[in-house]
Amino acid sequence: MTLATLVAGIDHDKHPRFLIGGVFVIIARHFDGISEGLADMKKILIQLDTDALPSSFDRVVAVDAGVDEVFSYGSVTPENVEGLVHGAIFTRKPDDLKNTAIFIGGSNVAAGERLLEKVSGTFFGPMSVSVLIDSNGSNTTAAAAVQCASQHLDFKTTEALVLGGTGPVGHRCGQILASQGATVRISSRKEERAAITCGEIRGAVPDAKVVPCAFSDDGIAAAVDGVNLIIAAGAAGVQFLTAEELESLDLLKVAIDVNAVPPVGLEGISPGDKAAQKNGAISFGAIGVGGLKMKTHRAAVQKLFTANNLVLNTAEIYEIAGDV
Ligand SMILES: NC(=O)c1ccc[n+]([C@@H]2O[C@H](COP(=O)([O-])OP(=O)(O)OC[C@H]3O[C@@H](n4cnc5c(N)ncnc54)[C@H](OP(=O)(O)O)[C@@H]3O)[C@@H](O)[C@H]2O)c1
Repeated sequence: MTLATLVAGIDHDKHPRFLIGGVFVIIARHFDGISEGLADMKKILIQLDTDALPSSFDRVVAVDAGVDEVFSYGSVTPENVEGLVHGAIFTRKPDDLKNTAIFIGGSNVAAGERLLEKVSGTFFGPMSVSVLIDSNGSNTTAAAAVQCASQHLDFKTTEALVLGGTGPVGHRCGQILASQGATVRISSRKEERAAITCGEIRGAVPDAKVVPCAFSDDGIAAAVDGVNLIIAAGAAGVQFLTAEELESLDLLKVAIDVNAVPPVGLEGISPGDKAAQKNGAISFGAIGVGGLKMKTHRAAVQKLFTANNLVLNTAEIYEIAGDV
């Protein structure tokens, strides 16, 4: 029986602590000396992608962040991931596990979150590696967008509107803004969908000041009334507001559009805009936000290799974006 099989066979709910403690002793003996002489231990990133083809984008960023080896796996699910996690945690001494890390990606953010739950649940005691989740680029994009806004606003007194707020990027923009004390309107074409997202944000940020907001041609005036910040995070090629509508918003200070596909979400903002004065507001386009997003992604990958027990999700990635 291999050590991995032995440890994997333990049901932590059924077996008493002393048995699990005994397994740790076996593990310690097993690893004693296993990494000796490996002074230049390579940094290995295990890319777990929920899509069939692991993202080349995420792989390039990993290499640019200084990772030595990227092992890429596609079609990864909670049902088939356990062996991959065991391969990560049973190959190096606990002290050396900070040189192995996991990246969770893929276009389906909900699938990525389910995978994160299973990966985290497979770790035990000191047998863990750090994990970064950035499915569909949603965390790094949202973190960068909100960081751009933070340079120009005091969030404690900010009334924010997130257009397309039910998508992965909008949801995370709303969550980060709420965690920083802003009052946030989450918009959707269907108010019920916005209400679900608000509930999920409250699950992550219990004192979040979030309100669902229906956004349609009839409801634009109410949605934008009194806002200081607009982040447009709708699907690619969806325009929400015309330049004229934006110009009319006296209290609007910052406008951010993360959609680069024409027509952009907020008319008049060019993808390359970075703190440009447009439509009477400090404006950022998708590429203007994208530089910080890329730096944040690389910094988050680098942070993985500083410890073996980090979980870098929305809140942690926002902090990293503030430091780069
Ligand atoms: N700059 C970057 O680095 C970067 C990285 C990743 C993503 N992005 C961009 O960020 C944006 C958001 O990404 P995402 O994946 O979160 O988007 P998404 O899930 O495709 O769409 C976000 C929301 O847009 C709304 N929507 C969809 N079609 C619409 C329509 N015809 N009219 C009005 N609303 C519509 C939907 O909300 P309701 O159904 O609830 O109305 C949806 O939940 C995209 O434009 C994407 O290209 C940029």
